[in-house]
Amino acid sequence: MVPREPRVVRTARETLVTTRDSSPRVARDVPGKDYNALRTHTPLVNRILLTGCSGFLGRYVGTRLADTYDVLGTYLTADVSSLDFETVKVDLLNPPFPRLLEYDPDALVHCAALTDVDECERNPGRAVRLNVDATEHVASLAAETGARLLYVSTDSVFDGSRGWWAETDSPDPVNVYGETKLDGERTAARLNDDTVVARTNFFGWNGAGRGSLAEWMIETLASGDRLPGFEDAFFTPLFAGDLATSLEALLVRDDTGVVHLGSRDRMSKYEFAREVAEVFELDSSSVAPVEMSSVDLDAPRGNDLSLDTARAETVLGRRMPDIRTGLERMRRERQ
Ligand SMILES: NC(=O)c1ccc[n+]([C@@H]2O[C@H](COP(=O)([O-])OP(=O)(O)OC[C@H]3O[C@@H](n4cnc5c(N)ncnc54)[C@H](OP(=O)(O)O)[C@@H]3O)[C@@H](O)[C@H]2O)c1
Repeated sequence: MVPREPRVVRTARETLVTTRDSSPRVARDVPGKDYNALRTHTPLVNRILLTGCSGFLGRYVGTRLADTYDVLGTYLTADVSSLDFETVKVDLLNPPFPRLLEYDPDALVHCAALTDVDECERNPGRAVRLNVDATEHVASLAAETGARLLYVSTDSVFDGSRGWWAETDSPDPVNVYGETKLDGERTAARLNDDTVVARTNFFGWNGAGRGSLAEWMIETLASGDRLPGFEDAFFTPLFAGDLATSLEALLVRDDTGVVHLGSRDRMSKYEFAREVAEVFELDSSSVAPVEMSSVDLDAPRGNDLSLDTARAETVLGRRMPDIRTGLERMRRERQ
């Protein structure tokens, strides 16, 4: 079948290049390919392989996808007994993965990573192995099985020097975590044509038991302690339940390329802490504004990592929620 000519859709903000062809999805190594552009084809998704299903986001994504799809989740060390989809223990650093090849997924969501920003700085070799090498193995698996690949990335690929980062802006990470996640993006797109990169930041209940930023804020405020909040660190975090919904939509839509998934409003971490206090009916006057420089952290951080989500709204066909709405959903989840 002869592929149709690319259809160019011009929006006020950008040009989206869309193609509808049914050519097989084969891995092509194209150095320097512009994986940032949005292109389309038609995915058929029934079986989804989810790496890192035992992690903070993986639990939200797996639970969400398992409502509709056949899901196989991979974990390494965590207790996954509470998950109501099939799981398999796999060390993603040790290919080949016969069980995963046998599963023959239509789509692969790659959540597994080394996400501790300071640990990445202390142990860059470990960060490269998990965020780049494991991604290489996962992307090769996707290419071999013809699966669409959704690589979950981070706002930390930007340097934080201004904010409202768009997909067309050049990443320039300031720490090892951001560098290795960016390398992971490029590796995924290089090894599998049918890759979508979702850059994000999120909040919610970390079912993996490690306690998320929002949970730490709730616990600190509930204990009556003073809660320091960075007034010079800005972000656009999305509730993990809404993120899972957006990731599902990206899996079954046609787009490849990079998409920024965040809330539509931007806050400092100080403002976020006050919002958490209000939504969870805690004492917002216990939140104290501090500067990032007042805390000794191993990894440098960018000041403003807020993401422009205009492309996401175009692709998903809906407005992203605001942070307050996300926090209220988070609260309802535990009521
Ligand atoms: N957390 C955030 O605020 C944040 C912000 C922006 C972007 N992201 C991105 O979102 C994604 C998910 O983050 P998260 O916070 O949900 O991660 P997380 O809770 O730290 O979970 C990491 C996952 O990776 C798995 N894993 C680690 N090493 C592995 C290995 N060698 N083989 C197989 N699995 C391995 C872990 O399995 P076990 O626990 O079973 O060992 C766990 O399921 C990541 O790509 C991250 O970069 C996170």
